[in-house]
Amino acid sequence: MTLPTRPVEFVNPRAANEFKARTCSIRSVGSYLPEKVLTNEAITKLVDTSDEWITSRTGIKERRIAAEDEFTSDLAANAARDAMKKGGITAEEIDLIIVATITPDMLFPSTACLVQQIIGAKNAAAFDLEAACSGFVYALEIGQQFIMSQTYNTVLVIGAEKLSTIIDWEDRNTCVLFGDGAGAAILQNIPNSHGLLTATMGADGSKGELLCMPAGGSKIPASGDSLKNRLHYLRMDGKETFKNAVNAMCSAAREVLQRCQIDISQVDHIIPHQANQRIISAVGDRLKAKEEQLFINLDKYGNTSAASVAIALDEAATSGRLKRGDIILIVVFGAGLTWGAAVIEW
Ligand code: COA
Repeated sequence: MTLPTRPVEFVNPRAANEFKARTCSIRSVGSYLPEKVLTNEAITKLVDTSDEWITSRTGIKERRIAAEDEFTSDLAANAARDAMKKGGITAEEIDLIIVATITPDMLFPSTACLVQQIIGAKNAAAFDLEAACSGFVYALEIGQQFIMSQTYNTVLVIGAEKLSTIIDWEDRNTCVLFGDGAGAAILQNIPNSHGLLTATMGADGSKGELLCMPAGGSKIPASGDSLKNRLHYLRMDGKETFKNAVNAMCSAAREVLQRCQIDISQVDHIIPHQANQRIISAVGDRLKAKEEQLFINLDKYGNTSAASVAIALDEAATSGRLKRGDIILIVVFGAGLTWGAAVIEW
């Protein structure tokens, strides 16, 4: 594959030596987490589980739950405002808004259009993207295409979820895993600057039933039966999802590293989809990564699907962990099945 090249001064000499191509820059990132914390202890009041079981099987200690009157568009808009503030970007400058989500406020209009209205980005085109937990990397890759084609100068990419509304709070197999939140990034073409080096996306629709929400679409519209059979909730085959996640995340990570000719030892930070500590550890082991390379915050937020790596990226940046010129590997996996990975020079 031939990647577009442009003259560029790499901040990180490793990247300069290994990879001469440049895609687009991440001007700033932001995030928003709802105030309400739901601890493992509190979940023991809802289903037959324990803090010990949840912690040892997943690494999750607590998650955030959005208020009843706080919707995915609100979470997304708050994350967007945070990124805009940090990047010094006004709403009018935004050319395109992509919202990755599986929990839109409603099927249509898109959540991206609702965000456009909330933040006042009146010059922006807007659409939603549905790639479940892989959504943010899919959105980054698509946003990058618009920057590289010079169609747009400023693209706002958001991962946002109110998963608490599609969780079956009577199903202990799933309700312990997920949380609400949003993360955002502003993409721009900043000549001679840092940015997204490459990204990959993948899918296997033959395994869609492993993780899905059966009802609410055209196949099973809302009915008395669909409600009685609890078909409007997320369903998952945990063990199979686990195996597929580890395999797909490893091969996506290897693919992007290979493309950039960067060895795993040269990566400063790996930001994996925050689904499960054991998945992250298995991926880290197989890639021969060191524990200190892995960024993990799922203990505080659980799996926030499309928002997960966006929140993690913002947290890593805000905490000062990311230094200019650092090489970051983002790797994700989700329903579809879908997966993806990206290499960023910070
Ligand atoms: N508390 C207590 N027991 C629970 C439980 C809970 N919250 N959830 C499930 N169990 C029980 C099951 O009922 C089952 O009991 P049984 O053996 O009597 O039928 C048993 O625990 C299953 O245990 P185990 O086989 O050890 O589970 P696991 O190691 O596969 O862990 C998951 C379960 C869900 C944590 C794990 O499969 C997983 O993380 N899968 C990937 C999920 C994911 O990340 N999805 C999103 C991807 S984007």
